[in-house]
Amino acid sequence: MSTDLDEVLATTRAIRRLDWDRPVDRALVDACLRLARYAPSGMNRQRWRFVAVDDPELRAGIARHYREAFTERYAGTTLDGIAASARTLAESLHRVPVLVLACVAGRPEPSAAPERVSSYYGSIYPAVWSFMLAARARGLGTTLTTVHLARAAAIADLLGLPCDTAQIALIPVGHVRPGAFTTPRRLPLEAVAAWNRWPG
Ligand SMILES: Cc1cc2nc3c(=O)[nH]c(=O)nc-3n(C[C@H](O)[C@H](O)[C@H](O)COP(=O)(O)O)c2cc1C
Repeated sequence: MSTDLDEVLATTRAIRRLDWDRPVDRALVDACLRLARYAPSGMNRQRWRFVAVDDPELRAGIARHYREAFTERYAGTTLDGIAASARTLAESLHRVPVLVLACVAGRPEPSAAPERVSSYYGSIYPAVWSFMLAARARGLGTTLTTVHLARAAAIADLLGLPCDTAQIALIPVGHVRPGAFTTPRRLPLEAVAAWNRWPG
């Protein structure tokens, strides 16, 4: 499926209600990962590592840790809007056909200078976003999630990750339901960008 790039950029949003029952072909996910490798990284080190999980038991295990982390994070709060939608995903994660875990080979230094911190995370997020855009272009919905990182150690155990690996984001991937790709609400351009002065 080929989609206009501008449309892909303007309609790739958090899609948490997926078609749970429709399997995702591994070849589709591989194609997205292949494209994600073209993202930039500091000094072109390409320390990104991706683990694509479609094994039902492993997905169930990740979903259990995700749900626990989510429940802990939002304990005692009333969930509405985005948080309520996030809860739907947390409760349904075991049903998502593929979970892609984006990692970096090598942990961030605990007291790294700002430019090192920026370079560390900036060397993985472009690849994560490229993956999500490539998925969107193929009719797959994704959401960038991080709440599970409170259970990173348990997930590392489950998947047998090396101990010098940092988990960055978990991306649930599935076919979308009709009408899923809409333009998300964003601040107007004038509020966030300006020529020769601070915006706003
Ligand atoms: C760094 C980051 C962390 C996020 N973590 C979560 C998460 O843990 N769970 C979740 O459901 N959504 C998560 N999101 C998704 C955001 O809530 C979503 O991108 C935002 O609300 C915009 O959604 P929209 O594009 O549909 O408007 C995260 C997004 C980013 C960029």
